[in-house]
Amino acid sequence: MSQRSFETLLSQIESLSAKVAVLGLGYVGLPLAVTAARSGLHVTGFDIDPEKIDKLYAGQSYVGAVSEADLTELLEMGRVAWTADFTQLAEMDVFVICVPTPLTEHREPDLSYVIATTEEIARHITPGSLVILESTTYPGTTDEVLTPILAQAGLAPGKDVFIGFSPEREDPGNAHYKTSTIPKIVAGDGEEARQLVEAFYGKFVHNVVPVSKTRTAEAIKITENIFRAVNIALVNELKVIFDAMEIGVWEVIDGAATKPFGFMPFYPGPGLGGHCIPIDPFYLTWKAREYHLSTRFIELAGEINSVMPDYVVARLRDVIDRRLGIGLSRARILIIGIAYKKNVSDMRESPSVRLLSLLREAGAHVTFHDPHVPEIPRMREYPELKGSVSLPFDEIDPADFDAILIATDHDAVDYAALAAMNLPIIDTRNAMQRRGLPMENVAKA
Ligand SMILES: NC(=O)c1ccc[n+]([C@@H]2O[C@H](COP(=O)([O-])OP(=O)(O)OC[C@H]3O[C@@H](n4cnc5c(N)ncnc54)[C@H](O)[C@@H]3O)[C@@H](O)[C@H]2O)c1
Repeated sequence: MSQRSFETLLSQIESLSAKVAVLGLGYVGLPLAVTAARSGLHVTGFDIDPEKIDKLYAGQSYVGAVSEADLTELLEMGRVAWTADFTQLAEMDVFVICVPTPLTEHREPDLSYVIATTEEIARHITPGSLVILESTTYPGTTDEVLTPILAQAGLAPGKDVFIGFSPEREDPGNAHYKTSTIPKIVAGDGEEARQLVEAFYGKFVHNVVPVSKTRTAEAIKITENIFRAVNIALVNELKVIFDAMEIGVWEVIDGAATKPFGFMPFYPGPGLGGHCIPIDPFYLTWKAREYHLSTRFIELAGEINSVMPDYVVARLRDVIDRRLGIGLSRARILIIGIAYKKNVSDMRESPSVRLLSLLREAGAHVTFHDPHVPEIPRMREYPELKGSVSLPFDEIDPADFDAILIATDHDAVDYAALAAMNLPIIDTRNAMQRRGLPMENVAKA
């Protein structure tokens, strides 16, 4: 096999003739594949899930940030291909890994997807290619996990293979930013690798920000997520304190946010959700142990955030006891919003699911409405909820419920109609007050 030089690969990227493999076509990989293809690069998306491949060939998008029109147009232009056949990796020049990085049952990093994908790449890669990890992980992963796998396959890093890390910063549901307009941190294992990674993303991201080492880039991503987790925990704690003092925490935060410097608003909620914030900080906790260090802020934030659903349930119990004189075991509750954040269908780690489960455990009869989640998919932690369906909004009969619990503040919900139902509303998102709706039946939690 002939050895391709750094210069050849760089010029292939610059001239858009490099063939790009995106491995893992989920919330991160699919928008990346589409954005790279839009720039003129030839992209092949690889996934182990054949259903996703079928959907993509049928022009069906399962990720909010990617439109069906985009998929159809790029397919027609011959810019993208989708496959579950990993032997096609042999034809690729640039490999971008976007596979999951969850926690194990013991809340330790589960790098099995990253390892399996890198091993698959190592089986097919031709010398002189570029491999970039995008999955969120602890500092050191690229050096300590990816590089040895590729080296064991006989590829000398910096010579036969160039290796980089560039963290993803998708914000599902955020209409203001997309893959091309979110600044991209890039790093490489050596100067040439960094130049290649920078050139690659420079083709379709407006602002590429190089940093000195892959472990610095990994640390940047994890710092961003810890920053959110800790700040959300802080306002969740303040919510409980101010609640006891009969002070509205949302008004406090909005007031503080009028300060033009030194304050950044974060908002409380029913607990953390999503693939990132509840999980990623613990990657650092695990790695810090290797250095005999503890991550006290992360642990404390995790502790505060993880009891939020219990706090919400306690508030709900209190409200229906006072207003209706019934306990949870006799209550009929309507949950609004089962996805983890507004305007998305993603329900990974959603606190609404925890709420649903806690309420059912307490004997309540619970129904949910979510305009973005018609049916609960299979979830590792709550297999019993699979197949529960959303009650269509126009079928909500107030006579069937004792209270409404707003867990996610989707824009597509008619909150005025909820107010008109004249039921007690427990609002964990300040959705009612923000819309200027009557508050006499509303308790915040
Ligand atoms: N979702 C977000 O908003 C977000 C934001 C920033 C970073 N991240 C990070 O990006 C990474 C991917 O997250 P995601 O949300 O896109 O996950 P996802 O579950 O939506 O998608 C991952 C995809 O990878 C596929 N996959 C699994 N193993 C594979 C393999 N061996 N080869 C090819 N495909 C494989 C899965 O079938 C799935 O389609 C994670 O590390 C996550 O922490 C996610």
